[in-house]
Amino acid sequence: MIASMGRLWQTVRPIRIRLFLGLLSALIASTSALLIPQALEWIINRLQADPTAAVVWTGCAMVMGIGLLEASLIWLRRMFAVSPSTTVEKQLRVGFYRKVIHLPVAFHDAWGSGQLLSRMMSDISLIRRWIAFGMIMIVTDVVTIVVGMVLLFRSSSLLALIFVCAAVPVCILAFRFNQRFAYLSRLSQDQNGDLATTIEQSVQGIRVLKAFGRGPTALEGFTAQADELRRTEVKMATAMATFNMFMFMLPELALGVALLVGLYETAQGNMTVGQMASYFATATMVIGPVRMLGNHLGQAINTNTALDRHFDVMDQSEDITSPEDAATPAFETARGDVRLSDVHFRYADAPDRVPDVIDGADLHIRPGETMALVGVTGSGKSTLLQLVPRLYDVTAGRITIDGVDVRDMDLLHLRTLTAVAFEDATLFSDSVRGNVLLGADQSLTEQEREDLLHLALTTADADFVHDLPEGVDTRIGEEGLSLSGGQRQRLALARAIAAKPAVLLLDDPLSALDTKTEERVTDRLREVLEGTTTLIVAHRTSTVALADRAALIDHGRIVAVGTHADLMRTSPRYRYVIANQEEEARHDQDIETLTGELDLREVSEATVGRPASDPGKEGDR
Ligand SMILES: Nc1ncnc2c1ncn2[C@@H]1O[C@H](COP(=O)(O)OP(=O)(O)O)[C@@H](O)[C@H]1O
Ligand SMILES: [Mg+2]
Repeated sequence: MIASMGRLWQTVRPIRIRLFLGLLSALIASTSALLIPQALEWIINRLQADPTAAVVWTGCAMVMGIGLLEASLIWLRRMFAVSPSTTVEKQLRVGFYRKVIHLPVAFHDAWGSGQLLSRMMSDISLIRRWIAFGMIMIVTDVVTIVVGMVLLFRSSSLLALIFVCAAVPVCILAFRFNQRFAYLSRLSQDQNGDLATTIEQSVQGIRVLKAFGRGPTALEGFTAQADELRRTEVKMATAMATFNMFMFMLPELALGVALLVGLYETAQGNMTVGQMASYFATATMVIGPVRMLGNHLGQAINTNTALDRHFDVMDQSEDITSPEDAATPAFETARGDVRLSDVHFRYADAPDRVPDVIDGADLHIRPGETMALVGVTGSGKSTLLQLVPRLYDVTAGRITIDGVDVRDMDLLHLRTLTAVAFEDATLFSDSVRGNVLLGADQSLTEQEREDLLHLALTTADADFVHDLPEGVDTRIGEEGLSLSGGQRQRLALARAIAAKPAVLLLDDPLSALDTKTEERVTDRLREVLEGTTTLIVAHRTSTVALADRAALIDHGRIVAVGTHADLMRTSPRYRYVIANQEEEARHDQDIETLTGELDLREVSEATVGRPASDPGKEGDR
């Protein structure tokens, strides 16, 4: 507890003075409020002795003056604490985002996006509320209670003790309630999130649900989830109702008893009427902080949990970073000579008994060469590709570009040298232009960028974008126009091309294209990529045949390298893999066409360009 709060204290260093001023305002406000009962006592006692208008006016002026002072101090407290606390909140968020962006892919494999989202949003909000209110109010509560108790005891020790009898359980109850309520509201938040996910998934997968007749089952599942959320909400309401009941009953009971005792004491002459009035006024003022103290203590505990969760992420080590004395040779001098020497890699969560995913891979890709990477599903092709730009670091062996170990290069430089088109073409909610030029050289002129955009789109056969409602300015991705799998893939390919890397890594970028389109793209790629070292995971004979050489990967090892023709002749394993993949590719495409994933143009191309009885094609297979 102390540790996390201590770190928070470091974080708020720049705003400490303002926080202190906020605390000071809050303290003066609440202690000056306690002066009102004192003024009341003075008026009543004076009026009994000397009932003149002057006393009434003086008393009223005193009370109003104190009231005004309190109000302006409360305003000041907010001015001092709220705005700097939002600055700290923003800093925490930006720091968290920076961390999340810099953490290696392996971290993201292990952490769900929901977890990161709730840490980024709710936890940090909680921390902000603690800085702006909780931290200050907890001190104010304690001081008000202590001063209030002194004043109560000054009025009458007996009555003060009666007050204590109610105040202690109220404080404890408030604390316990706060804990329970925090637990329940977190639960209800999670359940709300689950419900939202279910709706989202059902709507996205509506075709699957309908086609498999799973609608009623989905409804049942959803009803159960909704019911669970309802129960949690009822629990929250019940807890709140019970809590409120005790919160009001206990102090009021105590005040009732105090009234009886007070009247008796006054009648006996042990107390003045003014003292009794001031006792009641003070007691009603102190009961507020007593109630809130429990709450604020609870808030402290919850904030501490939020802080632990926050620092949990912030303390993750960024093990893929630029070395201190990183080499950053001029980009223009890069030749793109890629060499893998006895490369090993295993995922962090891999069980001990399984061998490394990449298990001693050796490969040399010459500058400017296009190398096809061929292997069955799960042989490690995608993994191998991701090792080059250090999305993961090799666990043994080394990868060099132009003789320099990728781990000795400046990270940003390495990632400018390389570009990847991933298997799953992720697009951002942005225009086509923004998506394609994501990795493009920032220093290009407007015209150069435009030319680059068009070159990349044409090469990737993504000219369909010109038919979109707003051409290259059409918003696509999650919140924009939805595109078919094949269209997304072509944009991802265009993005990799527009980055103009020295080493291009393409993970099966053409798998969703029909054979005709694929051949066209491969042809254009060869022209545009003249001089760019390319490693391309390929499915089909046509793509492989266009590569300079092919490498066969099997169980994480490169088992054969050579031209397609050579390998077809000499390697039975290669022949087997190619034959199998041709089969698979055809099958995949049939499914794509069937599920209507492809836009009409693609479908027509697919049917025109890939007739089952195309004699020219049969020869290839
Ligand atoms: N992020 C990951 N975490 C753990 N295991 C993974 C991850 N990605 C892939 N794998 C495993 O590594 C192996 C190789 O996967 P991959 O490189 O994707 O093969 P390929 O691209 O050749 O189909 C598979 O067994 C797969 O289950
Ligand atoms: Mg793969």
